[in-house]
Amino acid sequence: MARVFSGIQPSGDLHLGNYLGALRRFAREAQSPESLFCIVDLHAITVPQDPAELRARTIQMANLYLASGLDPDVVTLFVQSHVPAHSELAWLMECTASFGELSRMTQFKEKSDRRDFVSAGLFTYPALMAADILLYDTAQVPVGDDQRQHLELTRDVAMRFNSRYGDTFVVPEAVIPKAAARVMDLQNPTSKMSKSTESPQGTVGMLDEPSTIEKKFKRAVTDNDAEVRYDVEAKPGVSNLLSILAAATDRTIEDVASGYTQYGPLKADAAAAVVEVLGPVQERYAELAADPAQTEKILASGAEKARAAAAVVLDRARDAVGLLPRS
Ligand code: TYM
Repeated sequence: MARVFSGIQPSGDLHLGNYLGALRRFAREAQSPESLFCIVDLHAITVPQDPAELRARTIQMANLYLASGLDPDVVTLFVQSHVPAHSELAWLMECTASFGELSRMTQFKEKSDRRDFVSAGLFTYPALMAADILLYDTAQVPVGDDQRQHLELTRDVAMRFNSRYGDTFVVPEAVIPKAAARVMDLQNPTSKMSKSTESPQGTVGMLDEPSTIEKKFKRAVTDNDAEVRYDVEAKPGVSNLLSILAAATDRTIEDVASGYTQYGPLKADAAAAVVEVLGPVQERYAELAADPAQTEKILASGAEKARAAAAVVLDRARDAVGLLPRS
């Protein structure tokens, strides 16, 4: 099995996009001792976070990983800041990525737009992300479509480092799903569903009650021409519903689309399918949330495993650059 790494920021409530685009796939496609899953708290603080909330969300995020089916006796689940090698390798990555490359990141442009204060960390964020991935000789990175550009940068930086200093890093690949790679906001289907949303009615939370989920789908924005067809440009709302229903029921979009002529039943079936996939996750989550000490124990043992793996690659990179050995 290939080495797999992926991460999620504890920066807001996880939603259906995070689940279908990332979390659900981790347990299904990468339940292996070669897989590492991380709660990237250092990425979250590139924008201000309330400290108490950040602590609570970090545990919540761990519980959502576990509730989604990851077995901590098989995979390594840990918190980024518990493995200082991430910050250390990030500096080497900042010295390998160019200012121009970082300036072209669309996520930076979007997140820095109309903010009074833009931290330097928000700008160098992709260098830390490259460090996360390269630190474990990662071959595959399961992510949603929005991370494609960051993965391209990670590959470019790895190749540049290797050509400057000799073969040091494995060059990783993004693994992006066919359906639900980009789940869109139900109220504003030309924008992706997002944690930092201003549209709570358009965002389906992983922990939303069934009745709330049904209401949100019922009110989902579609269009006026009453034809069920997958066409992202002309019919973004309907296409989003088809894509969600396809992902939630493990069918192809074409297969799903052929079964509907009206929006009402499509919305109702999409809602029912989402309630069905999230139900068992929510049940497991409630059990895990009742015992935070157990989750902390899991994270401590994950960090220990991650620190051991990271030390090997960090030493290799330090040595390649010409930093004097520590002992
Ligand atoms: P984050 O925390 O924003 O999102 C976590 C995962 O969810 C996916 N995702 C979506 N998939 C489908 N539709 C959506 N609307 C949607 N929104 C989010 C994301 O693609 C991601 O897979 N930079 C990363 C965190 C990170 C990381 C890493 C990921 C830091 N280091 C190393 C992989 C490897 C981020 O902000 O994800």
